[in-house]
Amino acid sequence: MGRVARFAVSIDEKLLERFDQYIEKKGYVSRSEAVRDLIRSALIEESIGEDRDVFGTITIVYHHHQKELAEKITDIQHGYLKNIISTMHIHVDHHHCLETIAVKGKASVVRELADKIITLKGVKHGKLVVTGIEP
Ligand code: NI
Repeated sequence: MGRVARFAVSIDEKLLERFDQYIEKKGYVSRSEAVRDLIRSALIEESIGEDRDVFGTITIVYHHHQKELAEKITDIQHGYLKNIISTMHIHVDHHHCLETIAVKGKASVVRELADKIITLKGVKHGKLVVTGIEP
């Protein structure tokens, strides 16, 4: 960690009240920690727009009996060998599977891969979470 800087923020009292409720609900130990996390999150979001290198996970839940769906999910992943670190497959119940795919690479490529998988027929829910290293 670099040197620590302090800064003052002017804020509407009601907005601060709501922020303090958010902090308590989340379990942050201090406003500073909450603000730092929000800043990091904003910078990571921004990095997606700048198409920087990111790490992330694609999590999907899909219908196990959907015709050829598992093959399609695997085929798509074989087209992105450089971007996939590992996958974890969980058999949720008789009908559903959950898959988490750890990914890395340019934000645009990772987004493209996620969209291809999430939009497949039979994928009931899917989400890409992108993260990165910010100070
Ligand atoms: Ni399964």
